[in-house]
Amino acid sequence: MSVILGIDIGGSGIKGAPVDLSTGSLTAGRFRTNTPKPATPASVAGAVKELADHFSWTGPIGCAFPARIAHGVAQTASNIDKSWIGTNVEKVISERMRCPVSVLNDADAACVGEHRFGAARGTSGLLMLITIGTGIGSALLIDGTLVPNTELGHLRMNGTIAEDFASDRIRKKADLSWKQWAGRFQEYLDYVEFLFAPDVILLGGGISKEKKRDQYFHLLTTRARLLPTSLENNAGIIGAAAYAGRAS
Ligand code: BGC
Repeated sequence: MSVILGIDIGGSGIKGAPVDLSTGSLTAGRFRTNTPKPATPASVAGAVKELADHFSWTGPIGCAFPARIAHGVAQTASNIDKSWIGTNVEKVISERMRCPVSVLNDADAACVGEHRFGAARGTSGLLMLITIGTGIGSALLIDGTLVPNTELGHLRMNGTIAEDFASDRIRKKADLSWKQWAGRFQEYLDYVEFLFAPDVILLGGGISKEKKRDQYFHLLTTRARLLPTSLENNAGIIGAAAYAGRAS
């Protein structure tokens, strides 16, 4: 059995659990700690260490991170501390942990997890995942192969960027009704469908949980098959572990 510690680093919480890569199931209960403030590289690495220590973990780690990641280095920092820009996330964490660490974008991780073990298991063609939370994250998989760092939450629309128009943060901030928010999100979906024509669109993030989903899912129309994610809050953890273990 190959087990890797999957960790999802977010703006408010850092969550993780060991993942059995043959089934995608967590081999121990998920551990969560608050994201330290300020969430600098040193403080986040410390929180990751706390999480790994909770599981007495010394093996390989896969991390989902809310930024564009190229060769382990964060290139953006929309919803995290700006000091991450240019920082080699893999290096910072592996030096602290003294174990191999692989890092990828959080939406990319969720999509990899959903494709391998969740709602889009085995889907071929063009699979798009959109996460809706503080920001909007996106991921594309073509016949199961990840096209990383698509960052479609930063598409320009209506004089701003998509995540400042249709994220869950904006729904709450602007006190939008579900219908008003769904109208905005529909505009965004129309735009990404026009640009990419995906076969399947998965909606994830906190807003895709069943109770909330019931408020708006029926208001959305797409040409693509529109599905909620099924691994919910664990998609990033499972996908990050699967990605880290991709060669095994
Ligand atoms: C970031 C993305 C991330 C998304 C969801 C956006 O602000 O630019 O990299 O995937 O938020 O966390």
